Amino acid sequence: MPRGPYTGAEVKLWAAKSTALSCENLVLALRAHGYDSCMMEGFDEVRVRKLLKLDDAAFPITVVGAGERAAGGVFWPQLRFERELFVREL
Ligand SMILES: Cc1cc2nc3c(=O)[nH]c(=O)nc-3n(C[C@H](O)[C@H](O)[C@H](O)COP(=O)(O)O)c2cc1C
Repeated sequence: MPRGPYTGAEVKLWAAKSTALSCENLVLALRAHGYDSCMMEGFDEVRVRKLLKLDDAAFPITVVGAGERAAGGVFWPQLRFERELFVREL
């Protein structure tokens, strides 16, 4: 039984969720191939639209910076939580 999306807002939400998940796959694939990335949900949408010449129909979700890791490229110690806090193997 299909239960949507029906309205424009529902379709937009569906597209946003799918695109965000795709971006996560992209950054995981980048790492698997030896590259680093920085996913950014917070960005200057006006500038991104201008830079990429996006029309009003476009709906930018995320900016992903990616490239080769620079030696000494990390500004400060990275914060890492214990894996066990997030992964439970049953
Ligand atoms: C969905 C998502 C959105 C993010 N948005 C931003 C953002 O808008 N600006 C930002 O500085 N970092 C953002 N981050 C965090 C960075 O992509 C990155 O994960 C963080 O700087 C930690 O980097 P590290 O894992 O190399 O320590 C976001 C991360 C995720 C997963």
